[in-house]
Amino acid sequence: MPKVKFLPSGIEADAKEGETLLDLALAHDVSIQHACGGFCACTTCHCEILEGFENLEKPDGDELERLEVLEARTGHSRLACQSKIKGDLTVRVVNFD
Ligand code: FES
Repeated sequence: MPKVKFLPSGIEADAKEGETLLDLALAHDVSIQHACGGFCACTTCHCEILEGFENLEKPDGDELERLEVLEARTGHSRLACQSKIKGDLTVRVVNFD
């Protein structure tokens, strides 16, 4: 079972394979913005993957287009609502309340 650590909260959670980072975060009370409700239409769920970037399924074209216009993106940026978990991760939530 993949383990995911969210920063800055430090909350750790066990994920089901194929579950999205957003669904896992919300199920464990991790503060994370998600203005469009998880439909790849906003970018507020931006996360930086600090460890295990390869442990997410690859982004599709819609996510890549969204990420391209995101000023704060890094080489390890993903949208939590589109990121399906395959293995262990450490994730920095960029926008939280
Ligand atoms: S919640 Fe809007 S793009 Fe992820």
